[in-house]
Amino acid sequence: MSKYYIGIDLGTSSVKLLLMKVKDGEVSIERTVSREYPLSFPHPGWSEQNPSDWLNETSEGMKELMKGLAPESVRALSFGGQMHGLVALDEHDEVIRPAILWNDGRCQHEVEFLNGQELRQTVIDETGNIAFAGFTAPKLLWMREHEPENFNRIRKICLPKDYLLLKFTGVHATDVSDASGTLLFDVKNRCWSEKMLEICGLKEEQMPAVFESSERVGNLTEEAAEMLGLTTDCIVAAGAGDNAAAAIGSGIVSDGDCNISLGTSGTLFLASDRFVNPDNHAIHSFAHANGGYHLMGCMLSAASCNKWWMDEILKDKDYGKAQENIQESHLGRNTVLYLPYLMGERSPHNDPAARAMFFGMSMDTTREDMTQAVLEGVAFGLRDSLEIARCLGITPKKSGMVGGGAKSPLWRKIVANVFNMTIEVPETEEGPSFGACLLAATADGTFKTTEEAAKAAVKIKLHEEPDEELVTLYEGRYKLYKSLYPCVKTVYNDLQKGN
Ligand code: XUL
Repeated sequence: MSKYYIGIDLGTSSVKLLLMKVKDGEVSIERTVSREYPLSFPHPGWSEQNPSDWLNETSEGMKELMKGLAPESVRALSFGGQMHGLVALDEHDEVIRPAILWNDGRCQHEVEFLNGQELRQTVIDETGNIAFAGFTAPKLLWMREHEPENFNRIRKICLPKDYLLLKFTGVHATDVSDASGTLLFDVKNRCWSEKMLEICGLKEEQMPAVFESSERVGNLTEEAAEMLGLTTDCIVAAGAGDNAAAAIGSGIVSDGDCNISLGTSGTLFLASDRFVNPDNHAIHSFAHANGGYHLMGCMLSAASCNKWWMDEILKDKDYGKAQENIQESHLGRNTVLYLPYLMGERSPHNDPAARAMFFGMSMDTTREDMTQAVLEGVAFGLRDSLEIARCLGITPKKSGMVGGGAKSPLWRKIVANVFNMTIEVPETEEGPSFGACLLAATADGTFKTTEEAAKAAVKIKLHEEPDEELVTLYEGRYKLYKSLYPCVKTVYNDLQKGN
């Protein structure tokens, strides 16, 4: 008998739904559907979305996904979701203000407060992390200071995917991986930190209940089943933050496994069996969706740099053609450099004021040089996180790669050589939604563990090997890239202050 599972990846630009079938132990992907919603930037560096758009587009997408399939054939669903977003709910579970997202940079002041002399060690001891502007706790402090009326109306807070979970099951819940990104969570012990809640003026009853990612939270309510075209027999599993879900969907489940995601954000994800408290905290230490832990470096603008460059600046939708025009012989020899900080930067700089920059153009610089520089700048930005992991003695030899950017052969080649690593691309590049399906199937008992699910389902489609000469050339370019940010750091700050 065929069993069907649905994975919902609540992304920043769109929601991606994936229908997975399991028959006689064979896992196959039946169909995917994607639906976009708007992202608003009410002030430079701010980033917001309306949770009602997430819900509407998810239920519309679900109708498309389910065409021709009996509602009762779907046994379970789950989520991968953009992390850190603050969704504040009132006593009727109505959204109080638009959600403040992971790439929002308004909280510099609150971040300085949490990372300042007085609190820094407490924050580290309580959470295993330091504050970054995108995290949820500084956003709550910002809201308390700038929108006290809204803050006082909060009865519950939740993370983006958990808003869907609430609408689907009626339960206020989250999972350990997403909870890790709030800075209100004791990552090592997998529970809310009383001390951090106190610092942010919250009580534990305002927080969602915490589940492991493949745990069943409940079933669809009658209302939700009708809205989605499913039945109340459908199990809903807690799911995971998009990076942890992508890791499950790419088979990154064993100690030391590494994954790169090139989506709107760019992340370097390192699975670990044990909790790691990195010395400088420039990368995050979070719970993994497999019951273990992970380290993660996150850059705020990755594939979105190429999207901005192509859509907004060049007004050209043909990304593939633009990259075909770049000569192989020019790789590692570009004299144009690009800093990818369109929305400020998280790892490793923790600098919401940073901005993007092209450097090194001359009269003979071409459009291709600049397109190449954008792809290279993103790869160098990710390499910064790898360097931090290497300082901790973590030296992966290969990495998975998922997200929109993984579809580009040129970008894969650049990353393999900038990292000097074999890059493996799984058959399903839709990491988070596929991972979410595997979590749902585990909650349903089809697999005993997420490891078993990932091992049964994930197949590698292609390998990209580094080339010795290119690695050497890129090593030189990376050093130049690395030297640029410290030279302009203070200019960004002055620019923001209007000096
Ligand atoms: C991770 C992060 C991003 C978002 C993007 O810390 O902020 O990867 O989850 O969806």
